[in-house]
Amino acid sequence: MAQALAEAGAEAIALLDVKQDLGDAAAAELHSTTGIPVQYYKVDVRDGDAIAEVIARVTSDLGAVDIVINSAGVVDSNIKAETYDAAMFRKLLDINLTGSFLVSQACARHMIAARNGGSIIFLSSIAGSRVLHPQQQCAYNASKAAVAQLARSLAAEWAPHSIRVNTIAPGYMDTALNREALLEAQKKHWSAMTPMGRLGKPDELNGLAVFLASDASGFVTGAEILADGGYAVY
Ligand SMILES: NC(=O)c1ccc[n+]([C@@H]2O[C@H](COP(=O)([O-])OP(=O)(O)OC[C@H]3O[C@@H](n4cnc5c(N)ncnc54)[C@H](O)[C@@H]3O)[C@@H](O)[C@H]2O)c1
Repeated sequence: MAQALAEAGAEAIALLDVKQDLGDAAAAELHSTTGIPVQYYKVDVRDGDAIAEVIARVTSDLGAVDIVINSAGVVDSNIKAETYDAAMFRKLLDINLTGSFLVSQACARHMIAARNGGSIIFLSSIAGSRVLHPQQQCAYNASKAAVAQLARSLAAEWAPHSIRVNTIAPGYMDTALNREALLEAQKKHWSAMTPMGRLGKPDELNGLAVFLASDASGFVTGAEILADGGYAVY
């Protein structure tokens, strides 16, 4: 999505992630393919103080923040609710829900002060409105329902500041999130449950990200847009 935003005219990109090696590699690759400044910042989205500090550095290094994509997320799959460890449950919500909120809040504070508006994009999931199966993942499903409602709430609160807040709800995508031994067998089932008969490719969310980030969606806020190969029609 960052690559697509660069191709559509973004002037600089900040990548925030907890994994230093992935962040450094992605920043170097994006800079070499796009030619624009791309900087990686190591941060854990659960740490509000660290996020505020990083966003201040981003604005001083790269300029005002106009577009935010809240993509950091984790999934604990195949854990039965009756054996779900409370600390794990809280950790997942802390990353998927609170982390997205803290990043949005830090960026919105800058956007409001700059009086320039902006676009904030959340990543929910079909799991936010449907219970996915056969894997048990109650915490993830709940976190994604909450993310979508959080985004609608922020859309209402920040509309007076010309900040639009929208959500992309992907179906099953072929990303690192799903590259786990236990999930491999279940992928056949997921594909069978998807009218298009396959998982999505990572770059198949790019167009939506560009649409929601740009003036093409100038009157769109509080929306949750599915990109799921038809999964939700069944
Ligand atoms: N892959 C799918 O099938 C799918 C479907 C629907 C929604 N989503 C959502 O899309 C988003 C992106 O997922 P993805 O498939 O690209 O997964 P991914 O695992 O490839 O990427 C998620 C990134 O989040 C980072 N991260 C995890 N915990 C963090 C933390 N505490 N602080 C900062 N960064 C952290 C990871 O290091 C990783 O780089 C997630 O929110 C996910 O829930 C994915």
